[in-house]
Amino acid sequence: MTQRELDGQTLFVIGGGRGIGAAIATRARQVGMVVTVGARDPLAIDGAVRLDLTDEATIAAASAQIGAVDHVVTLGSLPHDAPVAGLDRDRMVAAFEAKVIGPILVAKHFEIRQSMTLFAGVVGWRPGPGSIVKGITNGAVDYAVRHLAANLAPVRVNAIAPGIIDSGAWDAKGEAKPAFLTGAAGQTLVGRHGELDDVVDAALWLIRSPYVDGETIHVDGGRR
Ligand SMILES: NC(=O)c1ccc[n+]([C@@H]2O[C@H](COP(=O)([O-])OP(=O)(O)OC[C@H]3O[C@@H](n4cnc5c(N)ncnc54)[C@H](OP(=O)(O)O)[C@@H]3O)[C@@H](O)[C@H]2O)c1
Repeated sequence: MTQRELDGQTLFVIGGGRGIGAAIATRARQVGMVVTVGARDPLAIDGAVRLDLTDEATIAAASAQIGAVDHVVTLGSLPHDAPVAGLDRDRMVAAFEAKVIGPILVAKHFEIRQSMTLFAGVVGWRPGPGSIVKGITNGAVDYAVRHLAANLAPVRVNAIAPGIIDSGAWDAKGEAKPAFLTGAAGQTLVGRHGELDDVVDAALWLIRSPYVDGETIHVDGGRR
């Protein structure tokens, strides 16, 4: 299937208001897809539909509002980075809801015709102090897509596990960001941090690859 064949197909991007999700929405529109964005605050994004992955009622309501879709990409993330002794139960639950439980509830409520793509992250495969919740939630995404693929067949379900991507999410580091990205680049095999296009390329490839199912695609420059 070529990108041309995505022309006219519908795509719902949950977390498509900024970062990687916004870049996927933009590229999908460029190849002719009809894109709707799901966001917690739809007023902040033109034409967006309200959907909070931690709130099943909003998932059901969004499905009722937009109807059947060809493809869904879900990027929601509520990271809780803390040492084990400092973990907060509610934030742990929210992290699992955004990455794992919420996407499963999306599968429950939405009529998806062709594919669903979840987002994991390299930390799932690189255990380290302080990132236990991020690591386990991202690792769980890998198992979620295997089981969702088997349950939703023939709808295909895959995941992308990015490495460190300059998506805007790291801007909060302020003056420390350049050194952080340089450090991340040094931990890859390809010698650079990831750019938005690296992940967008993978997402569009997954959407249009009819024989890829139940897989996690690692877009991390070899970091894993
Ligand atoms: N950037 C990286 O280096 C990197 C590395 C590994 C994995 N990833 C993964 O890639 C995905 C996208 O990353 P990013 O860098 O683009 O992150 P980001 O800029 O922080 O975007 C996260 C998105 O998740 C949405 N979101 C958060 N909680 C939500 C909820 N409860 N319901 C619905 N949407 C929710 C946010 O929407 P709001 O506008 O409502 O806040 C936002 O659009 C995430 O899953 C992230 O874990 C990124």
